[in-house]
Amino acid sequence: MPEVDNIQALQDDAEAKLASAESPDTLEAWRIAFLGTKGTVKAAMGKIKEIPRELKGAYGKAANQMKAALTQAYEAKKATLGRPAQVSAPIEDVTLPGETPRIGHAHILTQTIHELCDIFGRMGFEVVYGPEVEDEQHNFIDLNIPASHPARDPLDNFYIATAQAGCDLGDSKTMLRSQTSTVQIRTMEDREPPIRVVAPGRVYRPDTVDATHSFMFHQIEGLYVAEGVTMVDLRTCVDQFCKAYFGHDVETRFRPSFFPFTEPSAEVDVLFHYPDGSTRWIELGGCGMVDPNVLTAVNIDPEKYTGWAFGLGIERMVMRKHAIPDIRMLFESDVRFLQQF
Ligand code: FA5
Repeated sequence: MPEVDNIQALQDDAEAKLASAESPDTLEAWRIAFLGTKGTVKAAMGKIKEIPRELKGAYGKAANQMKAALTQAYEAKKATLGRPAQVSAPIEDVTLPGETPRIGHAHILTQTIHELCDIFGRMGFEVVYGPEVEDEQHNFIDLNIPASHPARDPLDNFYIATAQAGCDLGDSKTMLRSQTSTVQIRTMEDREPPIRVVAPGRVYRPDTVDATHSFMFHQIEGLYVAEGVTMVDLRTCVDQFCKAYFGHDVETRFRPSFFPFTEPSAEVDVLFHYPDGSTRWIELGGCGMVDPNVLTAVNIDPEKYTGWAFGLGIERMVMRKHAIPDIRMLFESDVRFLQQF
């Protein structure tokens, strides 16, 4: 039947053209030409009206089969054309040197505090802590610092306005502690001698900032109270500590000094060596025999017990050990500086 043969010819032609459609655009043009509402397939289907009745069945069947075959072939082709081209080149060059992830670490001051606690721990000291927000009782009064003492000047301390104090700065009894000596008092309030503790932590003073002074810095306090404790123990302990932390060739000296809570008192100095070859004695901290008035304030019998204490500046130690010329470098958070430690 020539009409059915025509349908086969149409299908062969459509399939050949479909095979050569290489882009979504040519595929769409093919769809419009063959399967579209004005396309060849629709036209062939429409011709059934003109086919003699006895041939209608065979023609219709052939036409439907052709339409189904072409529609299926179109869908299959569309699915493959939509996919991105297969990437044959390697995505990564595995021969390139790797990138090491940057891992953070503890700040040099934190590392040093751990190291100091470790050294004092080996010397038999327990580590204790106290609050940074304090009252005058612990920061001054129990430490034998009278109201008239210049250290209590409101301009030399960070007093905190509280609701209790009526927000009157001058009368406020709450403050940021100016020294870790507060922890001496808190420890002696809680414990009976023998007491052997160190207390590291932050302290605050409105000092003018320069190469060796900051308004917030760290101290480590030491306290030893027992029967028969003498200044000789203190001298030996501070000396042994300095040698353990700085090295055995470190030069230190004790200089007579005064603190209201120790008698006699001394200042501990360490010789700094600067990169230009010059040297300078830098004060590490204060120390002395605990004043009997302080022991009495915390209900420890000064006739039975004696003790000594020290308070050393941690930034000064770090600066001396690592040849850091300016204290501000410790607080600037410059990663190029920090990652050296
Ligand atoms: C005291 O704070 C005493 N409480 C120390 C003490 C404890 C004496 C126990 C006796 C017995 P002083 O104010 O000198 O003392 O401070 C101690 C150390 O802290 C100083 O020697 C210094 O190393 C460090 N320091 C003081 N002020 C600053 C500051 N603004 N910036 C950095 N470090 C400081």
